[in-house]
Amino acid sequence: MKIKKGTSLCFDDVLLSPKYSDIRSRNEVDLSTNLTNIQKLQLPIVSSPMDTVTGAEMMLALHVQGGLGILHRYNSIDQQTQEVKTAQDMARNRGYDNMIPAVAIGVSGDYHDRAVSLYEAGTRVFCVDVAHGHHVLTKLALGKLRSTFGSDVHIIAGNVATLEAFNDLSDWGADSVRVGVGGGSICSTRIQTGHGIPTLQSVLDCAQSDRDAQIIADGGIKNSGDAVKALAAGADLVMFGSMLAGTDESPGEIMTTNNMTKIKTYRGMASRAAQLDWRGKYSSDEGISTTIPYKGPVSVVLNSLEKGIRSGLSYSGARSINELQANAIFVRQTTNGLAESKTHILDRKV
Ligand code: XMP
Repeated sequence: MKIKKGTSLCFDDVLLSPKYSDIRSRNEVDLSTNLTNIQKLQLPIVSSPMDTVTGAEMMLALHVQGGLGILHRYNSIDQQTQEVKTAQDMARNRGYDNMIPAVAIGVSGDYHDRAVSLYEAGTRVFCVDVAHGHHVLTKLALGKLRSTFGSDVHIIAGNVATLEAFNDLSDWGADSVRVGVGGGSICSTRIQTGHGIPTLQSVLDCAQSDRDAQIIADGGIKNSGDAVKALAAGADLVMFGSMLAGTDESPGEIMTTNNMTKIKTYRGMASRAAQLDWRGKYSSDEGISTTIPYKGPVSVVLNSLEKGIRSGLSYSGARSINELQANAIFVRQTTNGLAESKTHILDRKV
């Protein structure tokens, strides 16, 4: 048994120190990032491949906004392939004909047949989606996908929490790695299994890698401020689940409660409800299924996130994500600091 030295930092444990800035307009800030040579993204935002977050509509919405939507994999090969075709048709009909579909696949069962079918439908970005990514099945799947598709595809894999895992996935063939285990808003992995590392700490650790793979920070990113902290810590992209759920474009019905509040379902893919729906059985339930307020069009959420991230870079005097990473100075805050950081007039007793 070993105990790792040092403290594992969460998003709320830190702030970024404001720095001298000569940026006169937030439009001077460039948020673009390259998905290797496959695609240039204008916005470093990725939607999570969950069945209450990313279907064809969300995929297209992310593309329109300059980000990346990753289609979930919790359906049959035919259904997922049809979703890719639907998203491409909608893109074309609305004047967007350069969308490169990104889709999630697993590491066992029919994953390879699925990948071939999706590739034939135009997919060039695969997300090898598994809760514990530092696993022999990920290694075998990455090897097989690379031998089939070569460098014709961008492969995202994960999730991982440590530098060792990040390096392994990179060496096994991943171009990007999802970093974060157990930090998601609907996750109960840490409670159920005792395993996980705060997402920000995992990003800080993986950013020490000498490999070329990109970092996608994933899990527990609850506002644009957290996204800026993740980018400053070394992430190239940030993945959102709960922030994009509950919108018009997320899959699922809008429901109305007795007091006339509109809500939508948001659920962990390892929740009992999701497992029963997609596998007809459940093993260890490591997530919850819940409802969240309906938010309207996702473009409103994405615009707000983009503005916050642009503003965040300008507070660090950074015109690009690379400059942010070079300039950023993190400071620790206490729990009193966290209370002060939030709007707190409503907490006052007098
Ligand atoms: P947020 O905080 O953005 O997190 O809602 C979304 C991320 O959570 C992960 N995820 C899960 N993790 N049990 C888990 O421990 C689950 O059931 C589950 N479902 C999703 C995933 O990485 C997602 O992007």
